[in-house]
Amino acid sequence: MLLRLKYLKLLVGLLVVTCYIGLTLAQFPRECVTPDGLRSGQCCPSPTGVAGDACGSISGRGQCLSIAADSRRHGPQYPYVGRDDRERWPLRFFNRTCQCNGNFSGFNCGRCKHGLTGPNCDQRISVVRRNIMQMSTAEKQAFVKALDQAKSTVHPNLVICTRRYQEVLGPDGNSPQFENVTIYNYFVWSHYYSVSKTFLGPGQASFGGVDFSHEGPGFVTWHRFHLLQLERDMQDMLGDPTFALPYWNFAIGGDECDICTDELLGARSTFDLNSISPNSVFSQWRVICESVEDYDTLGTVCNSTESSPIRRNPAGNVARPMVQRLPEPRDVLDCLELNTFDTPPYYSTSSESFRNSIEGYSAPQGPYDPVIRSLHNLAHLFLNGTGGQTHLSPNDPIFVLLHTFTDAVFDEWLRRHQPGEISYPEENAPIGHNGRFNMVPFWPPVTNAEMFVSASENLGYSYDVQWPAGAFTLSEIITMAIVAAVVVVVLVGGAIACAARARSHHSAEALEPLLSETFRRYSEDDRRSDKSQSVV
Ligand SMILES: *[C@@H]1O[C@H](CO)[C@@H](O)[C@H](O)[C@H]1NC(C)=O
Ligand SMILES: *[C@@H]1O[C@H](CO)[C@@H](O)[C@H](O)[C@H]1NC(C)=O
Ligand SMILES: *[C@@H]1O[C@H](CO)[C@@H](O)[C@H](O)[C@H]1NC(C)=O
Ligand SMILES: *[C@@H]1O[C@H](CO)[C@@H](O)[C@H](O)[C@H]1NC(C)=O
Ligand SMILES: *[C@@H]1O[C@H](CO)[C@@H](O)[C@H](O)[C@H]1NC(C)=O
Repeated sequence: MLLRLKYLKLLVGLLVVTCYIGLTLAQFPRECVTPDGLRSGQCCPSPTGVAGDACGSISGRGQCLSIAADSRRHGPQYPYVGRDDRERWPLRFFNRTCQCNGNFSGFNCGRCKHGLTGPNCDQRISVVRRNIMQMSTAEKQAFVKALDQAKSTVHPNLVICTRRYQEVLGPDGNSPQFENVTIYNYFVWSHYYSVSKTFLGPGQASFGGVDFSHEGPGFVTWHRFHLLQLERDMQDMLGDPTFALPYWNFAIGGDECDICTDELLGARSTFDLNSISPNSVFSQWRVICESVEDYDTLGTVCNSTESSPIRRNPAGNVARPMVQRLPEPRDVLDCLELNTFDTPPYYSTSSESFRNSIEGYSAPQGPYDPVIRSLHNLAHLFLNGTGGQTHLSPNDPIFVLLHTFTDAVFDEWLRRHQPGEISYPEENAPIGHNGRFNMVPFWPPVTNAEMFVSASENLGYSYDVQWPAGAFTLSEIITMAIVAAVVVVVLVGGAIACAARARSHHSAEALEPLLSETFRRYSEDDRRSDKSQSVV
């Protein structure tokens, strides 16, 4: 009986693992980037490999259809039309792809939507993202090992494009310019691709006023999907659907990087202030996408060639005192209280915008101030190295943990404010950031709006977070004041009655600690005021 149960478990386990193999999300699936595939503009592979079963249509999983791309107006930051491959993504490369039915998903409809599993994709599955500082030694080791494995494991399905579309078929018109890439380097590459400048022609300066993943409402939705894809790729790699990315609560104040130890993300090298200790595997990692001047002058795209080691000098930027300290716990509470998701112009200049505050261009309390760098931005800049440079930052694996925490704050904001899709802007956001825009460069196409949902109910993961206490709303303060007043009246009244009888005042004095404790909470306002002396 027991043995039978064991076998059953093994079988179910095998089934789950098999479902995961070979059905990975990809920017462009390897099988779509043949010369004919590119010329056809169609990427509709079959999950079974059977002819005539594009998108699993035989079993009703999906069908090959035209891609819907956002055509609403975008903001004035990007003034061109037809100069950038990322406009109306992914139409420059492909205009037909798999559209999956029901709970099916993936580039060939061979897998399930996030949060679902089983042959019919109707069983819920969820993972829990935890604080890395609270994991056991064995769990920490397993995570570091998994990251290192992702850094060297070639992505099973995905290849990266190393040229603009114009040159994508190579000098002879028949050699697609794509490369294999490792799972982790794909994570780095996709971030680079989304932030790179627009090439305007040889000898001309590239246009830097675009960013498909920052400085707009898509900041939170783009990075959410970015992490989800890495998490899934690593689950597939490990054959473990329960694998979850942990997070780094960076809002701890102070000038210490608590995760910068050799057990976790690498201590500081004793030989070089800007390097990672040789006792950490991360000292062996080499970055990609470093030759940004090359790409901008030649019109090429970052490829999978690795170059220098990771640079990191936490709290080391002496030229900018503001970025020598991590955000405070209070900053997280402040931004969670902002009621509006984003505000016009939906840009890095937005005021009273939750998104601009968590991204870190506005104060945590909401007001926009050009010298401020807070929360997410501050955590990046604090690292003073690879992790602080937008085109390179995911090369430092701290990026993963920094962004899972940022995503946890976003998810908590969604939970507290329950805005519904209506508060995500449909138009006039910077290019790439409208609700229906397909996020660049993800494949198959996925819109910003699709990620603007509660993670635990819709995406198959949740966060185990203890949010700091201490923020009281006005109505809570009033309620507490009324309760305190009633208590005072009752107790003082009682005390007077007692005093009248026993000529003692002890009860009234006993009230003092209660009151002063309440007040100390409110006057805890020791917010840093070094704004004027900071340089950006
Ligand atoms: C789709 O792309 C192909 C290849 O670039 C092109 O020939 C075709 O006209 C496009 N179809 C539409 C509807 O844009
Ligand atoms: C999708 O999954 C949900 C959750 O298990 C289930 O309730 C629903 O019936 C499924 N839908 C389809 C079309 O299978
Ligand atoms: C890319 O990876 C695939 C799968 O691992 C392999 O079959 C192919 O030969 C590789 N291509 C190159 C150019 O290395
Ligand atoms: C990869 O990028 C490097 C740095 O820009 C460049 O020198 C090299 O030629 C590129 N390789 C390919 C195959 O394009
Ligand atoms: C690191 O800090 C130094 C000043 O100590 C500064 O000159 C340098 O630009 C910073 N580097 C990065 C990548 O933030």
